Amino acid sequence: MITIYIDGSAYEVNEDVILGHVLHEVKSAKFGSSCRGLFCGMGICFECVVKIDDDSNRRSCMTKVYPGMQVKTNSL
Ligand code: FES
Repeated sequence: MITIYIDGSAYEVNEDVILGHVLHEVKSAKFGSSCRGLFCGMGICFECVVKIDDDSNRRSCMTKVYPGMQVKTNSL
């Protein structure tokens, strides 16, 4: 298990999971005011874009979690 931070809250997750799946569970499929959440789940629609660390344009469905990851879901 590793710790990631979503909108300032700490979550313990398995280290091999995709961030989009974690967000789907944590945020009930709504990532923020501008993102609808997982739609295609394969990197095409960009509906799952979030800010990760200093990068504000990351597709969460294509990103594996890593220790200390800082995620902001309503950054757009
Ligand atoms: S859900 Fe479509 S790009 Fe991530």
